Amino acid sequence: MSSNIVIAIDGPAGAGKSTIARNLAISLNLKYLDTGAMYRAIALYVLHKDIDPQDKDCVKSVLKKVNLDIKTKSNGNNLVFLNNQEITDEIRQPEVSKAVSYIAENFAVREFLVEMQRKIGRDGAVLDGRDIGTRIFPNADFKFYLTASIEERTQRRLCDLLKEGYNTTYNEVKQELLRRDEIDQNRTYSPLRMAEDAILLDTTNMTQKEVLSKLLERVEGHE
Ligand code: DC
Repeated sequence: MSSNIVIAIDGPAGAGKSTIARNLAISLNLKYLDTGAMYRAIALYVLHKDIDPQDKDCVKSVLKKVNLDIKTKSNGNNLVFLNNQEITDEIRQPEVSKAVSYIAENFAVREFLVEMQRKIGRDGAVLDGRDIGTRIFPNADFKFYLTASIEERTQRRLCDLLKEGYNTTYNEVKQELLRRDEIDQNRTYSPLRMAEDAILLDTTNMTQKEVLSKLLERVEGHE
């Protein structure tokens, strides 16, 4: 297997992209990049500075003060640093999840991250996000689009949040996912879309192991 292949994994929130992308990267000995974490890091910075995430000009004006760094742990997880401070866990907070879709629809933010993502991924990586196959790496060697029913995505996200100690309900999580789907799919710049040449996988009734083997089958079958 070539060590510089680029694999794009896109899809809506809660479809299981991150876990699958990380495990696929480990199996193929590739770097893993969680591009959503980069949008979350900017959202966190904006919240810390008491800026309204929907104030596009103000968000744009503070980007020059944002220094992002992504490192990879031995278990393949991304460690996220914002201005030299590790914020890996903080960016998962529900307040960040609420603000992040406004950050991600900001053209200046997207432009700020595009080159960074291309630079990290170009020598070979598995990247997960919303626009990897359509915008970041339109010529990726493999493109997958993972999805699942809203009920399944809600249940998965609810379990994650409860495990992490957050106090929330099925309905709250469902409404939040639907709100983010709506913003991510309807924004002007790089909306969430399946690339025409992506392989669609509905993971509603699949285990993570099954999803991983399906993806590996595709990638290794094309060696
Ligand atoms: O994957 P996630 O839930 O951590 O992503 C957080 C937000 O960032 C999500 O609302 C969509 C946005 N995002 C994006 O617009 N483009 C990407 N490549 C990755 C994430």
